[in-house]
Amino acid sequence: ALLGLDLGTTGVKAALFASEDGRVLADAFIDYPLSHPHPGWAEQQPEEWWQATLTAIKFCLERASDLGVRPTDVRGVGLSGQMHGVVLLDERRDVLRPCIIWADQRSDAQCHWMTERVGAEQLITYVSNPALTGFSAPKLLWVRDNEPEIFARVRTVLLPKDYIRFRLTGVLAMEISDAAGTCLLDVKRGNWSQEVLKAIELDPEILPPVVPADRTSGTTTSEVESLTGLPAGVPVAGGGADNACGAVGNGVVVPGLALVSVGTSGIVLAHATSPQVDTSGPVPRVHTFNHAVPGAWYLMGVTQGAGLSMRWLRDNIGLPERALERWTGTDAYETLAREAESVAPGSDGLIFLPYLQGERTPHLDAYARGGWLGLTASHDRRHLVRSVMEGVAFSLKDCMTIIGEQGLSLNQVRATGGGAKSLLWRQIIADVLETELVTTNSSEGPAFGAALLAGVAAGVYASVPEACSQTVRIVERTEPQAKTAPAYRQAYETYRALYPALKPILS
Ligand code: XUL
Repeated sequence: ALLGLDLGTTGVKAALFASEDGRVLADAFIDYPLSHPHPGWAEQQPEEWWQATLTAIKFCLERASDLGVRPTDVRGVGLSGQMHGVVLLDERRDVLRPCIIWADQRSDAQCHWMTERVGAEQLITYVSNPALTGFSAPKLLWVRDNEPEIFARVRTVLLPKDYIRFRLTGVLAMEISDAAGTCLLDVKRGNWSQEVLKAIELDPEILPPVVPADRTSGTTTSEVESLTGLPAGVPVAGGGADNACGAVGNGVVVPGLALVSVGTSGIVLAHATSPQVDTSGPVPRVHTFNHAVPGAWYLMGVTQGAGLSMRWLRDNIGLPERALERWTGTDAYETLAREAESVAPGSDGLIFLPYLQGERTPHLDAYARGGWLGLTASHDRRHLVRSVMEGVAFSLKDCMTIIGEQGLSLNQVRATGGGAKSLLWRQIIADVLETELVTTNSSEGPAFGAALLAGVAAGVYASVPEACSQTVRIVERTEPQAKTAPAYRQAYETYRALYPALKPILS
């Protein structure tokens, strides 16, 4: 069996898979809080991730043992997680401050400074991406500028899942597909960009070695064994960024395939065989990152607030009474979706902008703000829900349009993530994108991709594409409905006009 761990934004998942066919043997999910100390800020405590991870591993192994799968059957562990967050360790390897996570937008000034220091064009040449508030380097520079006493004590910077690797194995390393999102990695060559580090005066010593996704990076410690029951000495693979692992778990590891994911963030990702950069605008609006498939890359557009918008709605607008009676997270989403089904495409003119946490693709604007427009007295909660689903779909269409301009020939789009499990939301996305969406047996999200990477590292599979062809199967197809196209095209046009019209007022 192979164990996949996915350190998400809402919680951590541990899932155990059979290596022959990828079927799920057991899983466990433990959530943790996300704090927004100021508008646009987003932080989490690495210690809370770690405690939740230990509990998730323990529960998952206990559930598996009820089915006769023993902890000694685990041949490898794969790590996946939210990208870009900075975990700062001191010389005793203790965490210095809460992790500033991917969604955090505080570092706009540092992005401008970094771009000026390195040179806008040079930055793209060196790291294949512009400096964006979502990425790690500007967050690090924010700490240097605003908390110099903390920054002076930083000896090592890790990304979220790489911190979990450190706690599991004692090894300090950054895996390549995640390192790509720091804005410090030479994405073409796969090593730290000395040019960028020098220009922004960052000590290269604080960056750990870069390790491959599908090779063993360390083995579990005896402390982990005593805390979780997972034996000491189990190989832990490099693993991958959550989006890279989502792609692996859905078989998006060969040219022609793309992935749409609706998690806390939404993404559109296309497999690429070279580190090509988006030249369709003055600044690349989709990212160029190393894939968890050795020698491959992907292009990715990101919408900051996908599931985040729906969660905000669930938590703040309220729920119908019958859902409150037996309130659990999933029930609530299902109830909301069921209500929204009765509203026609286009939400009777109500448009939602999902920029609750700024926006990446296409606006690259930390100060973008969300909202509803077109509200009338005849709208009700059903319209609010449906318009959130549609607004996220429009934002994904912005991503897909730019991905489509990159000259990659795409022949299939696969859908994944919690939001895409909702048939209504998936149908809305298929209709808005006017594209068939294919879903696979990868029901456990990035944890599955991480487990497949562990399988390659442990020698169970010969390569990542081979792991996928042995275990990933198509289970469902969502066809776009031609009859909805006119309503969605019209609503999308309004949606597109709103951001530029509101920008002067909101930023
Ligand atoms: C990608 C990004 C998000 C996080 C979410 O660039 O910031 O998709 O990886 O987990």
